[in-house]
Amino acid sequence: MAAKISPSILSADFARLADEVALISDTADWVHVDVMDNHFVPNLTLGLPIVEALLKHSALPLDCHLMIEDPDRWAPAYAEVGAGSVTIHAEAAKAPIRTLRTIRAAGARAGLGINPATPVEPYEDLLGEIDMLLLMTVEPGFGGQRFLDVVLPKVRRARKLIKDRDLPVWLQVDGGVSAETIERCAEAGADVFVAGNAVYGADDPAEAVRALRGQAER
Ligand code: DX5
Ligand code: ZN
Repeated sequence: MAAKISPSILSADFARLADEVALISDTADWVHVDVMDNHFVPNLTLGLPIVEALLKHSALPLDCHLMIEDPDRWAPAYAEVGAGSVTIHAEAAKAPIRTLRTIRAAGARAGLGINPATPVEPYEDLLGEIDMLLLMTVEPGFGGQRFLDVVLPKVRRARKLIKDRDLPVWLQVDGGVSAETIERCAEAGADVFVAGNAVYGADDPAEAVRALRGQAER
């Protein structure tokens, strides 16, 4: 599958979100939106009202990454307002199968997120319930952190689990993805790349997306 680039607006200017998204709308595939509640992670960002507002201004589908407690309660609403993809965390969901099915039934792609120290194997049987597996390559909570190489063997194992079942599940890496690390992620089997700092920290975000894609598909 061709690489997909999902720039994270966590590193964008929150006061100018529509303009920041417009900057990358010709070169990116998705817009990654990090929802944080100051409970699941020690940071607070944005929630449903801002996602709803941004949907009206984004030419690209929104890839909503919920780093929140009680995603079972909140995730369906993101799908209902029109998010293209909604990812819940395995560590936080109490009824992941029900929630993933509800997300899909509302017309969004369903994602399952896994923190760096959480193994993928316990979730093997859920692969048929999801459209995307998100592997965190930093501890969740902040942009601009250093990529954790220790997660790469898990990316490889996850790709094998997906391949062995012949499932159309996208494999996303999130955290510290940059010109220095994206090739290793692609080589390990990732096909969707979130990049915050590497895109919005660049002088030309659109060009940064183009360059990342070129490296991922090399
Ligand atoms: C971190 C978020 C990431 C973050 C990535 O908890 O889930 O999406 O924005 O930012 P960079 O690419 O700067 O590590
Ligand atoms: Zn994220």
